[in-house]
Amino acid sequence: MHLDRPPAFMRKNLHRFVVLVLNTGHHWNRGKLRANRWVMYVNGKPIEDKGLADLANAKNFTVYSVTRWLDSQLSYHPRLKVFFRTISPWHFLNGDWNSGGSCDNTTPLTGGSEVVQDKSSDEVIEGAVRGTRVKLLDITALSELRDEGHISRYSVKATQGVNDCLHWCLPGIPDTWNELLAAQV
Ligand SMILES: *[C@@H]1O[C@H](CO)[C@@H](O)[C@H](O)[C@H]1NC(C)=O
Repeated sequence: MHLDRPPAFMRKNLHRFVVLVLNTGHHWNRGKLRANRWVMYVNGKPIEDKGLADLANAKNFTVYSVTRWLDSQLSYHPRLKVFFRTISPWHFLNGDWNSGGSCDNTTPLTGGSEVVQDKSSDEVIEGAVRGTRVKLLDITALSELRDEGHISRYSVKATQGVNDCLHWCLPGIPDTWNELLAAQV
């Protein structure tokens, strides 16, 4: 993982895009890093900076890097619109994804039906796009209201005691993200 380099497919294909939507989030953890045998690089070398060894800092650094690069590229691609989608929230109760967590509620909006905060729940993405021409697709707080919209125990590959309180049913909440995207485009 070259934290300071935009992905090759993006460098190569940017001129073909009219709308580009980025997102990142859940896979910035030790388990994924180890399982995928990822090694983090900056400046073409494995990272030496102790701060960046912390995955939260590595994610922040990467998000800022790619956002700044895209902002600089927008001058050459005046038709292009770039969005950074904020993190998709999860709703595991009484455990995590791998320790029996569940999301059994079936009634929408039991925790309230309004987002009143005027800043994003995803500080990293909000901070990275601030002052750039990359737009924020801010879906976190409104999706936090929809704990009943996850796949829960109803996945096709459902295993006893394993619930999916991260991914969403479709049709469902991500369709609302698309409506927000369409409105902003
Ligand atoms: C993320 O990186 C930016 C730019 O280096 C920095 O200003 C900001 O404080 C960092 N935010 C977090 C949450 O680490």
